[in-house]
Amino acid sequence: MLTDRYNRKVDYLRISATDRCNLRCIYCMPQDGIVQKAPSEILSFEEIIRITKLCASIGIGKIKISGGEPLVRKDCFKLLKSLINLPNIKDVSLTTNGMLVKKYIKGLKNSGLKKMNISMDTLDAQKFRRITRTGKLIDVLNGIDAAIEEGFFVKLNVVMLKGINDDEILKFAKFAQEKQIIVRFIELMPMTDNRLLNRSFYMSCEEIKNKLKVLGSLKPIDTEVFGNGPARYYKIEEVSVIVGFISPLSCKFCLHCNRLRLTSGGILMPCLVSQEGVDLKDPLRNNQSEEEILSLIKKAILFKPPEHNLVLSFPRQYLMSQIGG
Ligand code: 5AD
Ligand code: SF4
Repeated sequence: MLTDRYNRKVDYLRISATDRCNLRCIYCMPQDGIVQKAPSEILSFEEIIRITKLCASIGIGKIKISGGEPLVRKDCFKLLKSLINLPNIKDVSLTTNGMLVKKYIKGLKNSGLKKMNISMDTLDAQKFRRITRTGKLIDVLNGIDAAIEEGFFVKLNVVMLKGINDDEILKFAKFAQEKQIIVRFIELMPMTDNRLLNRSFYMSCEEIKNKLKVLGSLKPIDTEVFGNGPARYYKIEEVSVIVGFISPLSCKFCLHCNRLRLTSGGILMPCLVSQEGVDLKDPLRNNQSEEEILSLIKKAILFKPPEHNLVLSFPRQYLMSQIGG
């Protein structure tokens, strides 16, 4: 098992299949989107699979495919299928904005995928357009229903934005109860260069929990059962709902961080907020040996910083869609 300099076990790889997205969420992307990489700058499926195989050979057994929006990449479910079938890969999940889930549901089902995290920050169609600048809520709702119908284990991701969707916290709990899915509330991370947005829309998980308390008491449950990431889970027994909280700012989870991130351009990032990572694309394309690539992967693990330095109102160099949420 791999550990980093701070004795954290590293067994999880998040892969960004593309940095493109069919939405433009205000906290994530500029209105006009980002400068698109030329196709030759993006890792091919074969390259992603080679890197994953090497990671798997040194103890990384859990994979998440994210984006941008992974399903805008052609045949993404074929990539999922190949990854799911790799030896030593025990757990594969997908993070998606849900817009294309219904369209690709059969392919997703046939890939062998079992788990999906679907992002949806509001249950109100107008607000949805305000937050995503472009999308239609109904497409995501249909995606959620299709995923549930096909038996996927669905977690809903809700980024909390003060003054925009904080009046919907109880509605989300009710939605999760009706659909029998888990809802996770995420604190806004300052990932764009819009300092005002970063600061004024931030809401802490403590505030969210306090609002949920009118439904019943929040009993902590074993995190291992529901995920392998930084979320903390609670059951509200009175309404039989499980809620999760992801609090990168108010409650740093770096102490237990188990992950590496692979960008669509082939950079292995030790941390979401790293300023630099280790390029694997060129070495792969220059036919460097497996040992050499493996030593680069180990180098990225060594570079894992002890903790992130995210601070409210400070912009980041990389956008979330470029690093893979
Ligand atoms: N802060 C918090 N969450 C974010 N996400 C994207 N950008 C941010 C941000 N700045 C969320 C997406 C998705 C998950 C991968 O990360 O909404 O649910
Ligand atoms: Fe796309 Fe997700 Fe970023 Fe929204 S948060 S623009 S859905 S990548």
